[in-house]
Amino acid sequence: MQVPFLDLKIQYKSIKQEVDAAIQKVIDNTAFILGESVSNFEKAFAEAHNAKYCVGTSSGTDSNHLVLWSLGIKPDDEVIIPANTFIATAWGATLCGAKPVFVDCHPGNYNINPEKVEAAITPKTKAIVAVHLYGQPADMKKLQEIAKKHNLILVEDAAQSHLAEYDGAKIGTLSSASSFSFYPGKNLGAYGEAGAVLTNDEHFYQNLKMMREHGQSRKYYHDTYGHNYRMEGIQGAVLGVKLKHLNAWTEGRRNVASKYKELLKDVEQIHLPEEMPNVKHVYHLFVIQVKGDAKNREESRNKLQQFLTEKGVATGLHYAIPLHQQKCFQHLGYKKGDFPVTEQLAESGLSLPMFPELTDDQILYVTDNIKEFYSK
Ligand SMILES: Cc1ncc(COP(=O)(O)O)c(C=O)c1O
Repeated sequence: MQVPFLDLKIQYKSIKQEVDAAIQKVIDNTAFILGESVSNFEKAFAEAHNAKYCVGTSSGTDSNHLVLWSLGIKPDDEVIIPANTFIATAWGATLCGAKPVFVDCHPGNYNINPEKVEAAITPKTKAIVAVHLYGQPADMKKLQEIAKKHNLILVEDAAQSHLAEYDGAKIGTLSSASSFSFYPGKNLGAYGEAGAVLTNDEHFYQNLKMMREHGQSRKYYHDTYGHNYRMEGIQGAVLGVKLKHLNAWTEGRRNVASKYKELLKDVEQIHLPEEMPNVKHVYHLFVIQVKGDAKNREESRNKLQQFLTEKGVATGLHYAIPLHQQKCFQHLGYKKGDFPVTEQLAESGLSLPMFPELTDDQILYVTDNIKEFYSK
């Protein structure tokens, strides 16, 4: 049996008629940039997260930049970022000319560890970026308290966590603004590049809208700096169709996660992802950790991955090299050992196939093979 890491074709087949018609409508109307399909989607996406405003953008990376740029982050400022995230979280700060300052993750939820944040604050710190990684919300209450105490901007990188919940509320408006990615493999994925920003602040919303489109308040009147960070009409149309299915797909992911957890609960050699008591995890990724000491855990993880590959099970590493160990950030002076929890996860983490349409047979095949590997 082959178990892909992700299968977007199954999903497309299930919504083909709706999606094809929506795309055709954009073409018929030649509304290729922004337009009705994007504004309808913005309204629906804001509503789905109980947010007042949504600005559709060209990608999650661009949203990260747009948020910090429009909040006034400048060269020489410092922005606190988890070391355990995808690199695009850091581009938001670096594209503003600011310095990313990394913080280790929490061993329970793998998100930025609030206990470590205060030690990273300096007189230059301007903002904290919370990432709801793998689909699990970060500890926002503690981060809100720290941001308030030190007068810092708090924002969310919600690229992996559409519809996730924290303390019963949807993520996305637990800070000044949140950025989302609709990269095709995300829980809500476009058919190309796309992203969005949510906020409850009207003034900020107006600013975001201007800066997304060359800083213009109306055509050719450029009141502020900006860029071309507009969402395409076809992406708005696809996302509008897919958003209607997102609740069901999210439940599908949660169902896959609970089956994995049940079937793997007695495998002593691995550590399963934990869901914090006050959150709703939306399982963009299902990351297990292979137990072992610092000397052998990477090798053990790689052997398990190799075994699963040979059996036809595709897996991933999120993320094999933490941000502070990336070549592009060498000049910041971090070294191996600075963020032990993040480094441990990089060496021992393995992402299992995760998408709503995984069948029971496929789930069983994955878990049986993990058990077989450890029975040798
Ligand atoms: C945590 C995180 N932030 C930002 C991004 C960037 O999103 P995009 O690929 O849409 O630019 C991603 C997606 O890859 C992500 O996982």
